[in-house]
Amino acid sequence: MKKKILVTGGTGYIGSHTAIELINEEFDVAIIDNLYNSEKEVIDGIEKISGKRPSLEIIDICDMEKLDGFFSRNKEIAAIIHFAAYKAVSESVSKPLEYYRNNLVSLINLLGLMKKYRIANLVFSSSCTVYGQPENLPVTEDAPLQPATSPYGNTKAVGEEIIRDTVFSDSSIRAIALRYFNPIGAHASALIGELPRGVPENLVPYITQTAYGLRDELKVFGNDYDTPDGYCIRDYLHVVDLAKAHVVAVKRLIEEKNKSGYEVFNLGTGNGVSVLEAIKSFERVSGVKLKYKVTGRRPGDIEKIWADPSFANRELGWKTISTLDEAMKTAWDWENYIRSKSQIK
Ligand code: UD1
Repeated sequence: MKKKILVTGGTGYIGSHTAIELINEEFDVAIIDNLYNSEKEVIDGIEKISGKRPSLEIIDICDMEKLDGFFSRNKEIAAIIHFAAYKAVSESVSKPLEYYRNNLVSLINLLGLMKKYRIANLVFSSSCTVYGQPENLPVTEDAPLQPATSPYGNTKAVGEEIIRDTVFSDSSIRAIALRYFNPIGAHASALIGELPRGVPENLVPYITQTAYGLRDELKVFGNDYDTPDGYCIRDYLHVVDLAKAHVVAVKRLIEEKNKSGYEVFNLGTGNGVSVLEAIKSFERVSGVKLKYKVTGRRPGDIEKIWADPSFANRELGWKTISTLDEAMKTAWDWENYIRSKSQIK
């Protein structure tokens, strides 16, 4: 029988790509989402691509009663991948309580019900934001964590601690935290992708929306950093590569191949790319000259960070496959697809 995986936030950007990879690997996918930041039509996209429609229950995970109801009806869950969270850094600064409540109460509820319903395996969406500005690059998992620069970032750091302490107290629970670097791009079919509500905060959706003509110009946040070209450096990885890592992590837990109850992996390419290099990549694959202007630094921005993914390469047998250009091309295809679709409506 197929193993059932619960994907919270499964209609979101990374969750929807992961649902497809899980279905491709013969898992049954059950999605819980409150559709706060996503559309239920994403399920149609997942079905079109994978040939299988995951179930969707519209539940807010902070609602313990409804969540308990879900688990009492679905007893055979082999693992949970927990994506559902708020993720806008600047919004988290103005609404810290909403961020702490949403991101941490949901996690606490899930862990409590894992204990109650004896669900052993959890994969958690964490972020490289927990490293702050690392002293040594590329950054490894054992680098010291630094105080978060935003409530959003702090929910990831505290979330990791909550999971670690829970696993430590209860040997029947196993967990893997995945520290993502910068996910970009979309499924090659262009049927699903990132759908930011309102003005995007992240670089790549801002680039594609500007190129499409929805935004006047990209503001590049500073070119006076201590980097080779002066622009900030990040590690941009294709979202489909990232999604595949979740399947590997789930299998590792289900097959009990994990080396300790709580493991942490960096998920990145290992390549640092500057904002200018990212823009050039976009221009190369799209053939569009991007309008952009260098402005002041964005408060809280990290100067440079990229992953040492060798632990994930070695232990998970996972590595990124797509190049930056390939990822940018899929981001551009997706932008064109959703804009043409919204004009048809
Ligand atoms: C941020 C968060 C990270 C979070 C991620 C996803 C920090 C330090 N990091 O990553 O925790 O997981 O968002 O939401 O807060 N840029 C521009 N112009 C723009 C947008 C971005 O120049 O309009 C630049 C930024 O200065 C940065 C790079 O592009 O150098 C990437 O920015 P972004 O996509 O927002 O991701 P991070 O800041 O790396």
